[in-house]
Amino acid sequence: MSEPRKILVTSALPYANGSIHLGHMLEYIQTDMWVRFQKHRGNQCIYVCADDAHGSAIMLRAEKEGITPEQLIANVQAEHSADFAEFLVEFDNFHSTHSEENRELSSQIYLKLRDAGHIATRSITQYFDPEKKMFLADRFIKGTCPKCGTADQYGDNCEKCGATYAPTDLKDPKSAISGATPVLKDSQHFFFKLPDFQQMLQTWTRSGTLQDAVANKLAEWLDAGLQQWDISRDAPYFGFEIPDEPGKYFYVWLDAPIGYMASFKNLCARTPELDFDAFWGKDSTAELYHFIGKDIVNFHALFWPAMLEGSGYRKPTGINVHGYLTVNGQKMSKSRGTFIKARTYLDHLSPEYLRYYYASKLGRGVDDLDLNLEDFVQKVNSDLVGKVVNIASRCSGFIHKGNAGIMVPVNAAPELTEAFLAAAPSIAEAYEARDFARAMREIMGLADRANAWIADKAPWSLNKLEGKQDEVQAICATGINLFRQLVIFLKPVLPLLAADAEAFLNVAPLTWNDHARLLSNHQLNAFKPLMTRIDPVKVQAMTDASKEDLAASQTDTGEAAPAGNGELTKDPLSPEIEFDAFAAVDLRVALILKAEAVEGADKLLRLTLDIGDEQRNVFSGIKSAYPDPAKLEGRLTMMIANLKPRKMRFGISEGMVMAAGPGGEEIYLLSPDSGAKPGQRIK
Ligand code: 2FM
Ligand code: ZN
Repeated sequence: MSEPRKILVTSALPYANGSIHLGHMLEYIQTDMWVRFQKHRGNQCIYVCADDAHGSAIMLRAEKEGITPEQLIANVQAEHSADFAEFLVEFDNFHSTHSEENRELSSQIYLKLRDAGHIATRSITQYFDPEKKMFLADRFIKGTCPKCGTADQYGDNCEKCGATYAPTDLKDPKSAISGATPVLKDSQHFFFKLPDFQQMLQTWTRSGTLQDAVANKLAEWLDAGLQQWDISRDAPYFGFEIPDEPGKYFYVWLDAPIGYMASFKNLCARTPELDFDAFWGKDSTAELYHFIGKDIVNFHALFWPAMLEGSGYRKPTGINVHGYLTVNGQKMSKSRGTFIKARTYLDHLSPEYLRYYYASKLGRGVDDLDLNLEDFVQKVNSDLVGKVVNIASRCSGFIHKGNAGIMVPVNAAPELTEAFLAAAPSIAEAYEARDFARAMREIMGLADRANAWIADKAPWSLNKLEGKQDEVQAICATGINLFRQLVIFLKPVLPLLAADAEAFLNVAPLTWNDHARLLSNHQLNAFKPLMTRIDPVKVQAMTDASKEDLAASQTDTGEAAPAGNGELTKDPLSPEIEFDAFAAVDLRVALILKAEAVEGADKLLRLTLDIGDEQRNVFSGIKSAYPDPAKLEGRLTMMIANLKPRKMRFGISEGMVMAAGPGGEEIYLLSPDSGAKPGQRIK
């Protein structure tokens, strides 16, 4: 048996000035499932988080509410903690960046960087609100777009035409806080000399710490050259004062990631067996993972490792990046009721529905995840209620009625229990790789097999026959054992269902390794429904409530401003697809037997293709590029052969040929190299 691993895990720290919504929950649920999996496997895995409590947005919101920033962040922390707990996100510690531990660590890290020569100072000129007597971040300046003339645009980009610019380019600038016309003013700023770490970052970002898509994006930024990062803000600012620099404060993004360390330090103080240096020291052998969204990659994969390196700490083992959440295929929207707060969801639906749905769709890539509300209802009802819970409810009644709740010591399906056992390593591997979707697919595949076996044995029919009671008991005991194995596999995703199942099974909390043994001669407790179906009416009620309760929500903190490199936070990573998705595409070499214009269609050609074992009729919009279609006859191209047939006005199109180019006359049919034969698959 190998030694348990020591793992420290974090999720991004939520800003302390707004509510948690389902977009945030994607990250916390993903992280929590991974952490629970590690604990389930017997590893030492510690999950810390905190509220990100600093910055001008928080200061201004507290002022607006007539409370102190400390009161605001205490209120928000209580709200966030309750939301996370009810979503079964189980932190080992949830702290705040406005804490003594964080003040000490931030000062110490800064001083180490300063003393090692990694801090520069220089004067910069910025807009200043003469009424509020404060410098204005770009998000707090509004004016007319210098490019398209649209009024009321923020200081860094125009929502109408997409132009990006400096606040000083805005026409008729106004402070979004007081309405005053800002004036330009100089002040001394402190910069972290990120270029000092160019070499280290070049190596570190390619050392297996990042998904390929993330490493590729970072390579673009690294190749473009790093810039110094402005880490100071002038008073008034809610944050920590910079040591030896009265009136200057750390920019919120300087002390935010240090909040990961501070939260862990706070946990160490009340957990004697935890040693801070064993996790953060330069020679630490513990693993350290940060789960984050793709919008904050620069802070975590450039600034943060450089800060750690420069101040003598270890660097992360991995940065696990996920995409954004869309709802019903679109950005979350208040007017459509799809901007759903965690609390609003919890008022209507059980947390485990969402945990399972997210798990069923989360791969290891950075692509966005769509919460399609119809699919959500369908998938949860069909998989969890229809497949998993169904096994227990089908079998338990016969055991209680026919054998006083005792499972007989017979395995009526050894090949099936063996198959469940054999599947465990692959499911574990999928969890480990954060490929929750694959883990769920494999588990549901097992549930399908168990249900098919029970349906085939039909204990409900046998039970009516004379002399078949032993067989009924053997089938049902086996069914319960299969159910128990499924629960073990699903426990990181569905901890409540697992706890209820443990109560019904009358067993101690299940761990991963328990899947390898079966219950026999075992007394069950009474069966209570473990999960009810989602009623679509409740989903509707949730979206209706979201339309009402979001008018006042604040999602934009004004603090995620790009630092150092204006491109960084705005450039979303190009979506990846999983290998499975690629492998599912049947790409084949096709011989064009016939190519002809289609009467009544301006752009289409009708192609008759030979793909080895059959002929296909495909309509393709390439007529402008190939005005003389007969010339295509006899040529080889490539086609997607397993695309769902599409009914068109002119007939059915049975696949798609592959072409590239901007369109119109500039479209080029792809061809394989000579030697390829019709029907050959692309590998
Ligand atoms: O983007 C955000 O919501 C930030 N509050 C995340 C901070 S993560 C970490 F670095 F603290
Ligand atoms: Zn514009």
